[in-house]
Amino acid sequence: MKTKELSKKYKNYVIDMRREFHRFPEASLQEYRTSARIKEELDRFGIQSEIIADTGVIATIVGKYPGRTVALRGDIDALAVVETSSKEYASKNLGLMHACGHDTHAAMLLGSARVLNDMRDNLNGTVKFLFQPGEEVARGALKMIEAGALENVDNIFGMHISSDLPCGTISADSGPRCASADIFSLKIVGKGGHGARPEQCVDAVVVGSAIVMNLQSVVSREFSPLEPTVLTVGSIKSGTRFNVIAPTAILEGTTRCYNLDIRKNFPKIIERVAKSTAEAYRAKAELTYTYGVGPTINNETYADLAQKSAQKLVGAENVISRPPSTGGEDFSEFSNRIPGVMVNLGGQNKEKGFIYPHHHEKFDIDEEALEIGTAFYAQYAIDYLNLN
Ligand code: NI
Repeated sequence: MKTKELSKKYKNYVIDMRREFHRFPEASLQEYRTSARIKEELDRFGIQSEIIADTGVIATIVGKYPGRTVALRGDIDALAVVETSSKEYASKNLGLMHACGHDTHAAMLLGSARVLNDMRDNLNGTVKFLFQPGEEVARGALKMIEAGALENVDNIFGMHISSDLPCGTISADSGPRCASADIFSLKIVGKGGHGARPEQCVDAVVVGSAIVMNLQSVVSREFSPLEPTVLTVGSIKSGTRFNVIAPTAILEGTTRCYNLDIRKNFPKIIERVAKSTAEAYRAKAELTYTYGVGPTINNETYADLAQKSAQKLVGAENVISRPPSTGGEDFSEFSNRIPGVMVNLGGQNKEKGFIYPHHHEKFDIDEEALEIGTAFYAQYAIDYLNLN
């Protein structure tokens, strides 16, 4: 297998790049150094590329033979986490850390560009490499799309390293992979006054509390138990003093689900419960609902294709199934527009101590995974372009 051989050849290159990105993490939508370095590397290998959406990079390899266009996506941003590590590649930007592994995505995608560049004489079509900024703030994908990243693209493939999957394994399940992640805020307006004379007031603390409790029955009583759904009120802000009745309260929360109908119904249900509860207490409630990212649902055809590509690299026994995550992923911005698949690459190694969860200050992965991920990006592109 040519992709395997070439990924082995570029293994040390990918590890070096990963360590460099890890040393210099940048915040979402501020990835100026990272994107400049990616472009510099692509230029060095004669691969056509441009900076788009301020801090993203899009590279293109046109194969010798005509055909469809497939996009390979890797996100490149880091998180506001203080890294606890004595490793030589630990973050040099205090307060920022590649704690989700996007450094590995950027490096593997660069590696796969080198692999496919070496194989362009055998390619049936075009491969676009999307180095995406701002995933952690769920805005980078949309920004790249607005800049034209999906123009003439037929299919998209995304990968995420996973510290909960053993190194050497891959998951490319079809169906729900990541949940939608929306935000809501409720403003409750009552009437303030003296804590000793409640009859003169409308207590926003009591109204807000009742709304929080009533919202708990939305998921359990209005949606099917077979549809995983979350409604969380994460914050209540109200009141100033023990003997003052609060005139207002602000509740903030998030919803998660995989079902588009449920997602669509959430705002009107939350509004109905909040308004009618407020009314029962003589108060008013106003909802602001902000759509964040949609669910990432893997297309069955292309999940099957990705599983076959994975089997060629790690063997069928190492292509494993992984339950969906209730986390959000803005890959959905791409895959809700064109068919695509999002896969997970195992990066965990208990013997070597790579066991920490994503976003943890000790997060790290087994770099042996990088060679597999590099090959997987390239193999999927080839297998997709070779489809009849
Ligand atoms: Ni991530």
